[in-house]
Amino acid sequence: MLEVQHLAVNYQGISAVEDVSFCLEPGQIVGVIGPNGAGKSTLVKGILGLVPTASGKVRYRARSLKQQLHSVAYVPQRSAIDWDYPITVERVVLMGRTVHTGWLREHSRQAKEVVAAAMERVGIYDLRRRVIGELSGGQQQRVFLARTLAQEAELFFFDEPFVGVDKKTESIMFEVFEELKDQGKILLLITHDLGGTLTQCDRLLLLNRKIIANGSLREVFTAENIQRTYGDGLLLLSKQFFA
Ligand SMILES: Nc1ncnc2c1ncn2[C@@H]1O[C@H](COP(=O)(O)OP(=O)(O)O)[C@@H](O)[C@H]1O
Ligand SMILES: [Mg+2]
Repeated sequence: MLEVQHLAVNYQGISAVEDVSFCLEPGQIVGVIGPNGAGKSTLVKGILGLVPTASGKVRYRARSLKQQLHSVAYVPQRSAIDWDYPITVERVVLMGRTVHTGWLREHSRQAKEVVAAAMERVGIYDLRRRVIGELSGGQQQRVFLARTLAQEAELFFFDEPFVGVDKKTESIMFEVFEELKDQGKILLLITHDLGGTLTQCDRLLLLNRKIIANGSLREVFTAENIQRTYGDGLLLLSKQFFA
């Protein structure tokens, strides 16, 4: 189990995430939703130690997560990735193995097999010699999904993985998430999409700097919670969705 306790992140003294506590259980997909600027990306970065935290503890299996980052696979938001960087698909996926081998070591035959299987799984094996900048948004997102599979991690964090992807990619991603869940992995998905994605989550965290709600789709999507988080506009929309 991953336990986040009283996590807070400030940027230049301004609070972006405040007093956030929750747990993630193995074999569950947890969705984090909330408006733009709600602190969703910051929350994940704070959990992973990628930004300094003002307070809080993050423990995985009763030990500090910081000592176990090799068990964590993380795919940042599209906009945080330099798509012009001249690197091939295969090299990106191989990066998933460097947590096991280190950068300077030769990759073993077994590592190459894991990487090939990951690329096969998400349908990018034939693209392996292409540079990532040449691919479609969906193909790019699958490259990063393959990287997480190659890593053989226990905890998976995806920041808005469905942005800019095609239907085929979306369904491959859904399948892979389900497989990881069945393997008892911990998954956290940040999502902007208020459609089908949400129903795939076992639990939702509604975030707006603080946690507004934490529970099932039904528990979280109450009129009051939505209004507190998004204002009136979305209330109409969400009624259409969940009627
Ligand atoms: N590196 C940064 N420096 C200063 N402020 C930041 C930085 N990153 C994010 N912020 C601010 O923190 C708040 C939360 O941002 P973010 O976590 O990206 O929200 P979300 O992912 O929910 O859209 C926003 O007000 C954003 O402008
Ligand atoms: Mg974000």
